[in-house]
Amino acid sequence: RILILDFGSQVTQLIARRVRESGVYCEIFPFNTDPQRITDFAPKAVILSGGPASVTGSDTPRAPQQVFDLGVPILGICYGQQTLCAQLGGEVEGSDHQEFGKAFVEMQADCSLTEGIWATGEKHQVWMSHGDRVVRLPEGFKVYGTSEGAPFAVVADEARQIYAVQFHPEVMHTPDGAKLLANFTHKVAGCSGDWTMAAFRQQAVEAIRKQVGDARVICGLSGGVDSSVAAVLIHEAIGEQLTCIFVDHGLLRLNEAEEVVEVFRHHYNIPLVHRNAKDLFLGKLAGVEDPERKRKIIGGTFIDVFEEEAAKIGGADFLAQGTLYPDVIESVSFTGGPSVTIKSHHNVGGLPERMDMQLVEPLRELFKDEVRDLGRELGLPERLVGRHPFPGPGLAIRIPGAVTSEQADILRKADAVYLDAIRKAGLYDAIWQAFAVLLPVKTVGVMGDARSYDYVCALRAVTSTDGMTAESYPFDHEFLAGAATRIINEVRGINRVVYDVTSKPPGTIEWE
Ligand code: XMP
Repeated sequence: RILILDFGSQVTQLIARRVRESGVYCEIFPFNTDPQRITDFAPKAVILSGGPASVTGSDTPRAPQQVFDLGVPILGICYGQQTLCAQLGGEVEGSDHQEFGKAFVEMQADCSLTEGIWATGEKHQVWMSHGDRVVRLPEGFKVYGTSEGAPFAVVADEARQIYAVQFHPEVMHTPDGAKLLANFTHKVAGCSGDWTMAAFRQQAVEAIRKQVGDARVICGLSGGVDSSVAAVLIHEAIGEQLTCIFVDHGLLRLNEAEEVVEVFRHHYNIPLVHRNAKDLFLGKLAGVEDPERKRKIIGGTFIDVFEEEAAKIGGADFLAQGTLYPDVIESVSFTGGPSVTIKSHHNVGGLPERMDMQLVEPLRELFKDEVRDLGRELGLPERLVGRHPFPGPGLAIRIPGAVTSEQADILRKADAVYLDAIRKAGLYDAIWQAFAVLLPVKTVGVMGDARSYDYVCALRAVTSTDGMTAESYPFDHEFLAGAATRIINEVRGINRVVYDVTSKPPGTIEWE
């Protein structure tokens, strides 16, 4: 396994993804982690990430000495290169020639990092993003590649297996970057590349058995990918010791509840409590307009119902959650923010503390696309595995203001028609998240010979990698017009359709 030390770059997670895609397990630690943790992790190699600081400033991040004392191969990327060179006796200075974006590296000599990918004399596209640059190399280092703005674009001390690049191999704009990283993990670090989802499944099953013993586990299913994959994996490990509880708040997508019941109860034979609590939730939401209050009511009611159902089956010692790696990575923050970010919605209203249960979180080490692969490996249907994210409060936050059962029904239908149109156009997988929003606004239309006075439906579709930032999806006009016609023809109660072109920021993905 490989250790990635994070110096705060926006794209550190991409390094981890590329390394894992090369079949090698890795984890990200902040640069200022307890050095003992690094020794205990016993990595086969270390990668130093990029970062926003300047090595030339005093008091800026450095790699702990442990990294060099381990005697394992090291790869420094951008800031990682600069601090590595500075710490080993080289020199870095602020440059008046900043290099941002596309650049070309010209190879001057062959080294293990570029072997079989870039030959001497060749020029290849890379992605640069730096102001500082290395001006003098530490002893033992040699230049292997140069670029216009970075005379030390690729440097190495081959004897000590220390490599450093000024560009970012982890981003798509460095077309050969993934191959270079695979060369580092396989050829330089000697990792075998056999970390696959099949291997993960086996290890995870053993780990769950060890953690849980013969105790009982409950898992809250939401219909989403993460909790579904976690439940199926845990069931594989401990069988009937697991019970799933599915609280249906009546604000799910069309047929979602039926699909969850079908997959879990009938396909996998997993004990499942399906509580239809639609009236309870909609009753509590009646007349409530404030978005935050709506969320709180839904979260609180969810916990009440969940607890009630858990008590009925005699409780459990463990609570399973589909927490993912991006939620637990300790992020390096230069703005004084919290060093550990855990998205609150994965820890619904402090449920584990309130119910005094320990957590089973078998997906804590995985990225979203790895969870999808694991779901496929476990035989979950593609429709479920590839599904767009869906918020816990469901359709309630897609009906601005007070929610009624009638509006939820209209929205559910419009959403299904919209998603069907997207699937038929072959666009579903190109979009991070797409959904319909029902505006509490009525406008005048003409249908047949009659005047109509119905709701406005807004369509949303975004591309994103993590939901933190997003761009509206650039549908062509024909698609949008076709979807609008279908929604108005097939869904009673809507006579006008608009498309939301706001990106995030300044907008959010959801409307509330
Ligand atoms: P926003 O609207 O904040 O959404 O741009 C970012 C992503 O998070 C999802 N989301 C939620 N998920 N509980 C959840 O489980 C919530 O309360 C919640 N609010 C937003 C949203 O669907 C998008 O994918």
